Amino acid sequence: MIRVGLIGCGFMGGMHAACYQALAELGVKVTAVADVRPEYAKKLAEQCGAQAYSLGMTLIEEADVDVIDICLPTQLHTAHAIAAMRKGRAVFLEKPACVRDEELDQLLAAERETGAKVQVGQVIRFWSEYRWLKQVCAAGTYGRFLCGEFHRLSSLPQWSSEGWLLRPEYSGGVAVDMHVHDVDFVRYLLGDPERVQAQASRDANGLIQQIYAIYGYGNDVGVSIEAGWDYPADYPFNAGFHVKFERAAVINDASGLTVYLLEGKPFHPDLGEEFQAENDIGGNVSSLGGYYNELKFFIEGVRGDHPLDVATLEEAVRSVRLVKKEIEAAGGLIAR
Ligand SMILES: NC(=O)c1ccc[n+]([C@@H]2O[C@H](COP(=O)([O-])OP(=O)(O)OC[C@H]3O[C@@H](n4cnc5c(N)ncnc54)[C@H](O)[C@@H]3O)[C@@H](O)[C@H]2O)c1
Repeated sequence: MIRVGLIGCGFMGGMHAACYQALAELGVKVTAVADVRPEYAKKLAEQCGAQAYSLGMTLIEEADVDVIDICLPTQLHTAHAIAAMRKGRAVFLEKPACVRDEELDQLLAAERETGAKVQVGQVIRFWSEYRWLKQVCAAGTYGRFLCGEFHRLSSLPQWSSEGWLLRPEYSGGVAVDMHVHDVDFVRYLLGDPERVQAQASRDANGLIQQIYAIYGYGNDVGVSIEAGWDYPADYPFNAGFHVKFERAAVINDASGLTVYLLEGKPFHPDLGEEFQAENDIGGNVSSLGGYYNELKFFIEGVRGDHPLDVATLEEAVRSVRLVKKEIEAAGGLIAR
């Protein structure tokens, strides 16, 4: 059995616990959980039949587990991930890998030194619509990729413990926390851009609340990426893309994934069954879809079924670095 120690029992911790329960047939079980909020730790411990700890560091030190899954506020990622790697555990680290520049190299150095198996929660690489797009792009099914737009918009995230998400020194703000999803996916799809432009819109304190990036590849391929999280409270979470290939346009919006062919009728690609379940902790996602897919891939990798080569730490670090480059180009996280 693969025993998981799950650290952070908030929004993502609840999601991951539900995924591991859905993946029980792989021989995985959450046997230890930790949260400084005792009621959150108790709830997940009861749900999973796990031992409850208060501090994540105590769980890493004491719990006899194979995997440490880190669903902590981002400013706590690096210290916990490094401690878990040094303890000889496989590590699943939520995205973004970390928030401070100096931590990027520290994480990579610890991975190199320990040889730990690490996957980062860059979940869009595992989200069915995006995974489909990656496949047809790589296969050249509709010809050359010409251009694309990716976006991720929401109202202010209100669920985080002690409001850490809204503190830029903890979360990196909307660019590092939310925009990184699409930045990472576009890098996965097309590689690092040759040219990067960025523009931000800010709140009254000068903090970035909306970011627009334009990437250039070769002579004539352009991609725009937009993220904003200060929409009015009733605005529903909205993420999607539209992409043009030589012989088709692919649209992912509220009506699902649609392919409009230059020759032929539009159709909805068959993405297979999504795993549906509820995370009742709160937040804006109810389907386990991409989270289930990424943790299935991770646990199979820990078992040795395949290399953990899709959402590597190296890739996640590169994506954070690119976001930081955009923030710089847009005038800094907080305009003075
Ligand atoms: N992949 C995604 O789509 C996605 C979505 C949301 C959040 N996230 C990421 O997941 C991570 C967690 O975010 P969240 O939304 O679950 O936050 P959250 O605030 O809901 O949960 C964090 C939990 O960690 C606990 N905690 C804080 N310090 C602790 C410590 N030292 N030891 C043990 N527990 C501690 C808090 O009490 C809280 O319950 C962040 O890095 C975030 O960016 C990813």
